[in-house]
Amino acid sequence: MNAITYWTRHWLLLAFFALATGIYVDEPLLYDNFPSDFMWAAATSAYQIEGGWDADGKGLSIYDIWMNDPNHVSDGSSGKVACNSYYFYQKDIEALQSLGVSHYRFSISWARVLPDGIGRINQPGIDYYKRLIAALKAVNIEPMVTLYHWDLPQALESMGGWLNPNIADWFEEYARFCYTEFGNDVKYWITVNEPWVIAYQGYGSGNTAPGTYGPGTYTYQVGHHIILAHARAYRAYETSFKPTQNGKVGITVNINWYDPKDDQLENIDAAERALQFLGGWIANPIYGTGDYPDVMKQKVGDKSAQQGFNQSRLPEFTAEQKVLVQGSADFFGLNYYTSYLTANKIQDISIIDYGYDQDIESYSDPTCYQSSFDWLTITPFGMRKTLNWIKDRFNDPEIIITENGISDRSGNVDDMMRVYYYKHNINSMLKAIKDGVRVTGYAAWSLIDNFEWGNGFTQKFGLFSINFETTDLNRTAKASARYYAKLVKDNGFTADQPCNNTPI
Ligand SMILES: *[C@@H]1O[C@H](CO)[C@@H](O)[C@H](O)[C@H]1NC(C)=O
Ligand SMILES: *[C@@H]1O[C@H](CO)[C@@H](O)[C@H](O)[C@H]1NC(C)=O
Repeated sequence: MNAITYWTRHWLLLAFFALATGIYVDEPLLYDNFPSDFMWAAATSAYQIEGGWDADGKGLSIYDIWMNDPNHVSDGSSGKVACNSYYFYQKDIEALQSLGVSHYRFSISWARVLPDGIGRINQPGIDYYKRLIAALKAVNIEPMVTLYHWDLPQALESMGGWLNPNIADWFEEYARFCYTEFGNDVKYWITVNEPWVIAYQGYGSGNTAPGTYGPGTYTYQVGHHIILAHARAYRAYETSFKPTQNGKVGITVNINWYDPKDDQLENIDAAERALQFLGGWIANPIYGTGDYPDVMKQKVGDKSAQQGFNQSRLPEFTAEQKVLVQGSADFFGLNYYTSYLTANKIQDISIIDYGYDQDIESYSDPTCYQSSFDWLTITPFGMRKTLNWIKDRFNDPEIIITENGISDRSGNVDDMMRVYYYKHNINSMLKAIKDGVRVTGYAAWSLIDNFEWGNGFTQKFGLFSINFETTDLNRTAKASARYYAKLVKDNGFTADQPCNNTPI
């Protein structure tokens, strides 16, 4: 058999098996560079790293309360100390410096600066963020600040939290306060991180703080209030701060990619519906039409009527609110982790739940690499598809990837799976940029192993490992940290120093 015949047969066979069994085949890497002003970052959030839960006059947040119950955390731990970044932030900055990143995405703990959520200020809390920001800028790292990463002041939860429409007033007050205190040094603000988690887990399934149950009712009300609160914080910046501070304000939406499980029309529709319920829910009002996606209004409206509700469980925006909300962002923050296969499935009408409202079923492709989380398989192709979907559906916004990363349980420093994840996801993002998607920055989740909410310290996302048994909690670079540092330094993928070999 001559060589050509051999290879032809080889590739035909490979193609046949790939199609027949769905074997996942790596896409070839694109060796090219990012735009010269591309923002490279790593990300954290306050409750997951800071510790100092009651230090220096900090108020309690809903997570301080929630994590007091050891049944809420798989290893019975809490974020009381976490990575102790309230005291050890210099260690975080050293880690960031060794990555060579230009930006650091962190969040402000609302209750640390305003212990009651509104009113009274806590000066030592303000001073902490001023020290952190000054220390970052001293080494040429720009802060990218999230105002709300889930840790609502308990004082506000006692008044109904995100279920109380007054939260738009409270959030605007908090946002104005932060712009005033820190805004001269902050050019990127993210109002709210992942509204979906707050609305569907915090006030839906009740699986996380504040643990309120209402998956088909409260979920939509909370989503509505988040969108309005975000818009108010955006407009406050636009009118009172942007002229002097010149920053940008956006919101971070978590979107997984959904592929149809086959090419049947009903499954293609189901995949688009899944994307609209997850991403369009928050993004369409802000970046699209000023209103919820039509498919959501239809599904939730029809089901609500069948279930005997006198109006849709999905709230409506008034004409005035649409004007407030539409266009209330300077960039689109995207948290992208994974992808699913999707099929149409008409769900039981007796169950009142945002998940059931979608009439889909979705699952992870079993041929993809699996992380230590069930929901997180390694699907880099979904990054490019999600980015193009956002561009097409929401008027080609500037996009910043505000999170992307993978967990394991071992926390080992020879973390080849994480190297693979970053290599292929970042390359997929590069392909999207070459497609014409306006991606201007990327933040790896996470800088350091940290307190992963209900999974405590068992799920590790860090580029740096921490031995939580020690008191000095040193940050130790993993192989993925060195790999990421090289990518950042090269500002892309260079064929002469192949990134597909062992990292430096
Ligand atoms: C619909 O029902 C709710 C209670 O479930 C009630 O508060 C509301 O006034 C009703 N609205 C209309 C338009 O009848
Ligand atoms: C932590 O780092 C400091 C400074 O480099 C060092 O002195 C100390 O021994 C380290 N601690 C551990 C437990 O490795």
